[in-house]
Amino acid sequence: MTKLKFGMIGGGKGSFIADLHLKGACFDHLGELTAGCFSRNYQKSLDFGNSMGLDPGRIYRSYEEMAKKEAKREDPIDFVIIAAPNNVHYPAAKIFLEHGIHVVCDKPLTHYLYEAEELKAIAEEKDLLFCVTYTYSAYPAVAFMKKMITDGRVGEIRLVKAEFLSDNMALPNKALSNTMLWRMNPEIAGRSTCCGDIGVHAQNLISSVTSLEMDELSADLNIIGDDRVLDTNFTAIIRYKSGQKGLIWCSNVAMGKCNDLNIAVYGDKGSLSWSVEMEDIVVFNELSGCSVHYRMGTSFSSIGESQMFRLPAGVSEGYYVAFANIYQKFMSALQNKKAGKTYEINYPDINCGIESLRFLEACLASSEKNAAWEKV
Ligand SMILES: NC(=O)c1ccc[n+]([C@@H]2O[C@H](COP(=O)([O-])OP(=O)(O)OC[C@H]3O[C@@H](n4cnc5c(N)ncnc54)[C@H](O)[C@@H]3O)[C@@H](O)[C@H]2O)c1
Repeated sequence: MTKLKFGMIGGGKGSFIADLHLKGACFDHLGELTAGCFSRNYQKSLDFGNSMGLDPGRIYRSYEEMAKKEAKREDPIDFVIIAAPNNVHYPAAKIFLEHGIHVVCDKPLTHYLYEAEELKAIAEEKDLLFCVTYTYSAYPAVAFMKKMITDGRVGEIRLVKAEFLSDNMALPNKALSNTMLWRMNPEIAGRSTCCGDIGVHAQNLISSVTSLEMDELSADLNIIGDDRVLDTNFTAIIRYKSGQKGLIWCSNVAMGKCNDLNIAVYGDKGSLSWSVEMEDIVVFNELSGCSVHYRMGTSFSSIGESQMFRLPAGVSEGYYVAFANIYQKFMSALQNKKAGKTYEINYPDINCGIESLRFLEACLASSEKNAAWEKV
């Protein structure tokens, strides 16, 4: 099969997640980077595009220019990857859909639920695929837990709990990197930092593993840190439609935590639990009874070769495979669709993005009313 051609928004020097998208999309040799607008700064965009050996005519000054010019070509990109900050997601996804180009977009899908629903309507009208990269949903362990549940090993689910704990905003703003700072700017991040950025991963993880549908929730969003205007910590108690009870706690100020996304599911026959961080921890025990947990990628796990740690502490190498799994499924569907064959939507699609926006809006509304119960 010929490789699918894709373009990227974001990914210039110093950016974080775009590199994982790029590697994930090329992992199974199904796609090739063909065009891009890698930064708002054209020189930075050119530098990155040139370093990837792209045709300079396909390195664009803006994503609007990329959508319009690619759509007019005889050999346009098949899909675009949106790996820029949150405020770019809605306008960029909209213009590419309107120009007939399939979309892969990072989370949170949009700032507002109505924007996500509008994107869904355009994608349906134009018959275009839309993937939202809930990375953690594509870990093999998540698929395994889902199968354990559908095989009845857990029995009837009674309780679920997910946490996403990090200390990436535990320090004052002046000590944070640019990639953290925009997450606290409402114009770029949206109406929430913690719930919108990592809370939606926890919510989607529960949904991916259990397929439970939320009914109502009570949420408390907290602004912790003196120079903050958006939440850096939140808890939500959830009532699911078929009676199960759930709890989500996420924090950016949980000192000592790096990327601790974990889940536990309790049924009437058994329970399951899993943590992303465990892959990245070495336990050292001594005869004295002293036990030390070394987290890879921190100053305590120095091996004299810092370049061996390709990802921030707490984000284990499984992250690459999770992205690759999402892209493999999305691109196989797109290849089949292009060939007029039947295809399966077995990757996180736009409905997952919409479900997170419903969760986020209910959390915001509940927290504003002193954690009153709010329909999702
Ligand atoms: N799926 C996941 O696991 C995961 C993990 C981290 C981040 N994210 C999401 O990915 C997105 C990017 O986050 P990040 O941490 O990589 O941010 P970042 O700040 O590290 O990188 C953003 C990049 O986008 C570029 N950019 C900004 N505006 C642009 C525009 N108008 N046109 C072209 N490029 C533009 C910036 O120059 C930069 O290169 C966010 O929406 C975030 O929520 C998802």
